[in-house]
Amino acid sequence: MTPEPRTDRRAGSASATMMAARVHAFGGPDVIRYERVPRPAPGPGEVLVRVAAAGFNPSDVGFRAGLMRDIVQMDLPFTLGSEAAGTVVQAGPGVERFAVGDRVVGRLDEGGAAAEHLIAPAHRLVRAPSTLPLAHAAAIPVAGLTAWQGLFEHSRIEPGTRILVNGAGGGVGMFAVQLARRAGACVIATAGPRSSDRVRGYGAEQLIDYTRVPPHQALDHPVDLVFNLVPVPPEAAEALCRALRPGGSVVSITIPVKPPPGSGVTATHFVARNDPAQLAELVTLIDDGTVRVDVTATRPLAELPAVHRDAEAGRTSGKTILVP
Ligand SMILES: NC(=O)c1ccc[n+]([C@@H]2O[C@H](COP(=O)([O-])OP(=O)(O)OC[C@H]3O[C@@H](n4cnc5c(N)ncnc54)[C@H](OP(=O)(O)O)[C@@H]3O)[C@@H](O)[C@H]2O)c1
Repeated sequence: MTPEPRTDRRAGSASATMMAARVHAFGGPDVIRYERVPRPAPGPGEVLVRVAAAGFNPSDVGFRAGLMRDIVQMDLPFTLGSEAAGTVVQAGPGVERFAVGDRVVGRLDEGGAAAEHLIAPAHRLVRAPSTLPLAHAAAIPVAGLTAWQGLFEHSRIEPGTRILVNGAGGGVGMFAVQLARRAGACVIATAGPRSSDRVRGYGAEQLIDYTRVPPHQALDHPVDLVFNLVPVPPEAAEALCRALRPGGSVVSITIPVKPPPGSGVTATHFVARNDPAQLAELVTLIDDGTVRVDVTATRPLAELPAVHRDAEAGRTSGKTILVP
């Protein structure tokens, strides 16, 4: 997450209002208020977008609880939501990239997606896929960019690379398995019973049920690369390294993994950044049928506290979108 302020934007005309899911004080799910606020107006280079859906991410729980304050400046109150898809309804001065009526999708580093309308700099948005319901495009930015950067910037994948995607049942895993397969990798994935059919459909060649066996015990041969998408405890992180061949690497988006001394394993941890050019490449892959986007739950934005409770209790699987 880029360290930028998450603040609410200037108000538009006094009469125009909208509903937004806002946090006035850090705390549990019940601090989220779905409330009426002034609708913002686009400034130079910005567009006003009517939100078709916002994507839910585990990091939203951290923003709400105040756990991300060391990484991102967060001024209260703020509107939740780091990604959305919708329709441009007003363009600010100087915007040539989009016109009223365009369908767009993007990652919002300053939050603000969990609302009926959002404001974004036009250059951070891209055209939404034409082959998906617009609301489903909200599932792409955070998970898609994270998978892309993990595989193509922080790893070296070649045809035949054996990769273990740990936590393939979630949003990032959906993109990671498909993108790794497209790059010619042999993909082994951990998924629980509720996700196994979906993950197999993304092209995973071997599935390991993480609820029954640790991954390194289920492998016939070690892998070259582990892409870790699960906030595992340190002992499980070390066990993941036992799935690797000597000289292999582990890339983690959750906790930094410490390889056992002498294992020859290299470890990388990264935080994904916004990259509209990469997002546009993902949209192309979706429109040409290479990458599929599954939305496993569509919930009313007004139910966001319940979505947070479900996520914290591990009751969600795959990608949830929130419809205002
Ligand atoms: N560093 C970054 O820039 C960055 C970016 C995005 C996300 N993240 C973090 O990465 C993690 C994954 O994100 P996400 O959006 O994919 O989350 P998500 O959609 O909430 O994924 C949760 C999935 O994890 C699976 N899971 C839970 N425990 C597991 C275990 N022990 N072994 C294997 N799978 C397990 C479950 O799969 P089943 O359904 O199969 O049970 C569940 O569906 C989150 O912690 C998130 O905060 C970091």
